[in-house]
Amino acid sequence: MSKRFTTLGRFPTTRLRRNRREDWSRRLVAETRLSVDDLIWPVFVQEGSNRRTPVGSMPGVDRLSVDLFVEAAKQARDLGVPAVAIFPETDPKTKTPDGREAYNPGNLVCRAIAAVKKAVPDIGVACDVALDPFNSDGHDGIVRDGYVQNDETLDALVKQAIVQTEAGADIQAPSDMMDGRIAAIRKALDGKGYIHTQIMSYAAKYASAFYSPFRDAIGSSGALKGDKKTYQMDYANSDEALREVGFDIEEGADMVMVKPGLPYLDIVRRVKDAFGVPTYAYQVSGEYAMLRGAAEHGWLDWDKVLIETLTGFKRAGCDGILTYGAIDAAKLLGTR
Ligand code: PBG
Repeated sequence: MSKRFTTLGRFPTTRLRRNRREDWSRRLVAETRLSVDDLIWPVFVQEGSNRRTPVGSMPGVDRLSVDLFVEAAKQARDLGVPAVAIFPETDPKTKTPDGREAYNPGNLVCRAIAAVKKAVPDIGVACDVALDPFNSDGHDGIVRDGYVQNDETLDALVKQAIVQTEAGADIQAPSDMMDGRIAAIRKALDGKGYIHTQIMSYAAKYASAFYSPFRDAIGSSGALKGDKKTYQMDYANSDEALREVGFDIEEGADMVMVKPGLPYLDIVRRVKDAFGVPTYAYQVSGEYAMLRGAAEHGWLDWDKVLIETLTGFKRAGCDGILTYGAIDAAKLLGTR
């Protein structure tokens, strides 16, 4: 909640630098604390075994085959990271206009979920609900007559959420921005008795140019025709984000997300103030690429900008952050 300042103090009786003079004092007055408990680690998975392929536009990030993903999840668990989020690079041969591979119970995502829950049962597993990794049009929903069809897509998303839950995923995270998806998914999950499965809704997701490294990573950029502006939000809008979040809470979302992160911290603050529900932001691929790319050139200190930006998310009102830097941050936080 925003504070009202009634006493401001006057220089020289008041010197704001006094509290900042010593490290112990700065620690004592710190308003926000970033912890490993605030992190969700998004991971790209690919077919094969013992395979690791670098994502060109995301230095330091690799696509992992399921066996290596399981090892990575163990490392995350050992560092105290509460949850991972799985994103698949799907074999282009399985992509169709209806994205049916999304609800094949034997698909790459489901195999990754099952393997990680078997080997590392105590880490939370989130997965996306959206058709873009499986759809030959590269869109999050089914395209017909040049338009991403809302209600038809809902049926596919529901089926996808069910197979992912059956594979063992703890959190379904719909990132598709179709209207009514949270209600449809909640109803289907409850109908099958999955009353404990959580829904983290990508509630205020903007049509952003910061997603392009992600689309390279999952191999959907080549397929994508046009843009996603008919379903993802216009970055000019802020009130509309509150409507989106409000709808999703009413429809049954347990947690809500704002995406991208850094250029949208004003939205995070409004959402947290208005609703007070568990609120997350996604430090997306393009944000990672900016910071990490500059660090590769020696222009920024990666460790420092990572912790600074993640603390900024917390200061804005986030309960947690999805970040490709989760492992690095966990290590840094553990040693501070
Ligand atoms: C797709 C999805 C996207 C991201 C997460 N889920 C990209 C998009 O909407 O095109 C972006 C994540 C990132 O950029 O790191 N449903």
